[in-house]
Amino acid sequence: MSIVITNIGELVTNEPGLGEGPLGIVRDAALVLDGERVAWVGGAADAPAADGAHDAGGGAVLPGFVDSHAHLVFAGERAEEFAARMSGQPYKAGGIRTTVAKTRAASDDELRANVRRLVDEMARQGTTTVECKSGYGLNVEDEERAVRIAAEYADEVTFLGAHVVPAEYADDQQGYVRLVAGDMLAECAPHARWIDAFCERGAFDADQTREVLEAGIKAGLLPRVHANQLGEGPGVQLAVELDAASADHCTFLSDDDVSALAGSSTVATLLPGVEFSTRQPYPDARRLLDAGVTVALASDCNPGSCYSSSMPFCIAVAVRDMRMTPAEAVWAATAGGARALRRTDVGRLGVGARADVLALSAASHIHLAYRPGVPQVAAVWKRGRRV
Ligand code: NIG
Ligand code: FE
Repeated sequence: MSIVITNIGELVTNEPGLGEGPLGIVRDAALVLDGERVAWVGGAADAPAADGAHDAGGGAVLPGFVDSHAHLVFAGERAEEFAARMSGQPYKAGGIRTTVAKTRAASDDELRANVRRLVDEMARQGTTTVECKSGYGLNVEDEERAVRIAAEYADEVTFLGAHVVPAEYADDQQGYVRLVAGDMLAECAPHARWIDAFCERGAFDADQTREVLEAGIKAGLLPRVHANQLGEGPGVQLAVELDAASADHCTFLSDDDVSALAGSSTVATLLPGVEFSTRQPYPDARRLLDAGVTVALASDCNPGSCYSSSMPFCIAVAVRDMRMTPAEAVWAATAGGARALRRTDVGRLGVGARADVLALSAASHIHLAYRPGVPQVAAVWKRGRRV
């Protein structure tokens, strides 16, 4: 089944060879989807016939958002913790344990329903590629269950046994690290492509993070790191040293961290929803971009530090408060996310790319930042199927 999309206000392809600027914007364009792939891109006047047609009504058409960082396998919420933060309490990594207790007590079907609900919520807001981490099980059985369930719904699955040390190992942190790098990894690796660790004071130090990530690499997983969220620390340097696909958060960076990222293929994935929801200073995207670092934007949707799945919200905040241009933020939320996941088939709309398409009711990508908080998603296709 093929479909031709016409009457497009502007087509963002993220293929500089196809159109204007880094977003590769094509005017008076048409786009043909055939099955799960983009089959044709070009001027509307030359568009080939297709089985079906969609009139975009003069709205912009973009690649679907690539949300490269989310924690969706959990039970229970933490609204009171959020309210307490908004009345002055700081965000602490330890809050993760509240969700761990509720997640362990939930049935498989309850966890499935939560992941499905959030993946659907994301799709309605234009997200067509979802990365999902474990990290609220923190024992062999519940981490295996989390990555297995994540794999049923997400495009990319990350094993995050090293999210925080669970209460029962409070007096034996090394014992927990050995468990994560040993039996837990062995059970989880078959369901995951990525290994992640929360390298932060209150979570895992540099040696512990290295032990977990190196064990993951040996087991065939690719590394990514929660780094420099709550303060400066070793996470970013370690990510670069291990050639991690992405260092996520990057809120507190030294000049050395910025140069290390600039000289690497590690993407800096910024998660503005976290700073919004923890009332922390935003990461300085401009400093990273000016140094030549590749920047991605992602939601970090989770019940603690940021319970928003909205990529348009991330774009608006990144433009308003992180000194990104609208074009840079849109690129970071699409092509940047693809880079952070080492994917070449998503985050772009060239021939052969996955037919993941977001049609807006507004005429340009700029409106995603220009009209914050306003629903502007008119239609979404994920693998060629209308969501
Ligand atoms: O990415 N930083 C660590 N993990 C999550 C927060 C998880 C939670 O608070 O439940 C994050 O922000
Ligand atoms: Fe996270």
